[in-house]
This record gives sequence, structure tokens and C-alpha cells, in this order.
Amino acid sequence: MSTNEKRLAGEAAIRYVEDGAIVGVGTGSTVAYFIEALAGIRQRINGAVSSSEQSTALLRKHGIPVLDLNATGPLSLYVDGADECDAHKRLIKGGGAALTREKIIAEASSRFVCIIDSSKRVNLLGKFPLPIEVIPMARSLVGREIVKRGGQPVWRDGVVTDNGNWVIDVHGWQITDPVGLETELNQIPGIVTVGLFARRPADIVLVGDKEI
Ligand code: 5RP
Repeated sequence: MSTNEKRLAGEAAIRYVEDGAIVGVGTGSTVAYFIEALAGIRQRINGAVSSSEQSTALLRKHGIPVLDLNATGPLSLYVDGADECDAHKRLIKGGGAALTREKIIAEASSRFVCIIDSSKRVNLLGKFPLPIEVIPMARSLVGREIVKRGGQPVWRDGVVTDNGNWVIDVHGWQITDPVGLETELNQIPGIVTVGLFARRPADIVLVGDKEI
């Protein structure tokens, strides 16, 4: 993990921000650098849509207005980090438990710029345990469904998401068909969001300040 690359990526993403934009903002330590850089051009934008309480607090601290996605309509840009990224810009996200709002904003945005350091690049997704947000009463049910599919579910005990739900981290999956797995898991009752961003991958990936 390189803190310097995270900072460079966060700063480099500013080049995709257009004047007057409402910017979708992700969550995490890399995004914190983006928010800092965004503060420097806050007069040029109309505000942000935030993916977490954590990012909302940071945006407000920097004087950037936080808007409701229901009021903004579609966004032109979403900037967020990732836990893993493959060669097709498909991602694992949710290390910070903000995956549901992140996926909603990614879906609502015409361009998703993903900012990472080089340690996040992988050939095959799955070494990073796959986060899944679940409705609390469905935790065991979802766990059993994961075991049936060869995964090892581990409850992220003590973590409650911004939506009042729980997170299961799935170990041991080598994800050869990310779109297929995401689609299949989305059918299981009680799963709110799967941390695979494959149906809607990133459009642009910045590793440090380099676009890949
Ligand atoms: C939060 C996320 C983050 O984007 C991901 O965990 C990467 O975080 P960081 O930039 O701190 O490495 O998905 O839910």
C-alpha cells in the first residue's frame, strides 16, 4: 500500500471535474485526498453527493455542500477508491462498509473514475474478502448460501452500516466470472448489496496519477 500513490490519485481525479458539476464522492482514505483537492476548487462546483456519513462529514468540514441524490438527478462524475481492481476495471469494494451507497451513486453516474494505489491491482478478484451487506435477520441464511457456493463467510462483528445493516466478508473465492457471481448473489433474499462492481465497472482507473 502506498500513501503517496493514494494522494496522487486523489489529486489527479480533479482533472475530470467539470465546472458547475455535482460530484459523486466515494469513501475511504484515497477519497479523503480527493475531497481535500476538491476543497481547493469548491467555488467551481455546485456540490457533492456523498456515499457515507464519513465522507459527508469530511465534505462539510471543507465547506462543500452535500446534496441528496433524489434532488440532483443523474451525475456526470463519480470518484471512488477500491479494494481490488482487475484488468477490465471490475472492482471489489466495501472494505469501508459503504458499498451500498457507493453502488447507487456509481449506477447514477455516467463516468466512474476509480482512484487506487498499485497494491489494489489484481489479475483475479477475490483475494480481498468480498464484502456483502445483509439485512441483519438474513445473516445466517446468506452465510449458508455462501458456504454452498464454496465461500467462507465471516461476519464483520460490531460493524453496522450507514443503512443499519451488517456486513459479511467472504473468504476463499477466486472470482473467475464477476458479472455472473454478482448477478447470482443479487438474487438471494436478504442480500442488500454485493461488493462486486462488475455489472457496472469503473470507466477510468487512476493508479497514482497514471490512467490505465
Ligand atoms: C469503502 C470502499 C473503499 O473505496 C475501499 O475500501 C478502498 O479504501 P481506501 O481508499 O481507504 O484503500 O469501498 O466502502
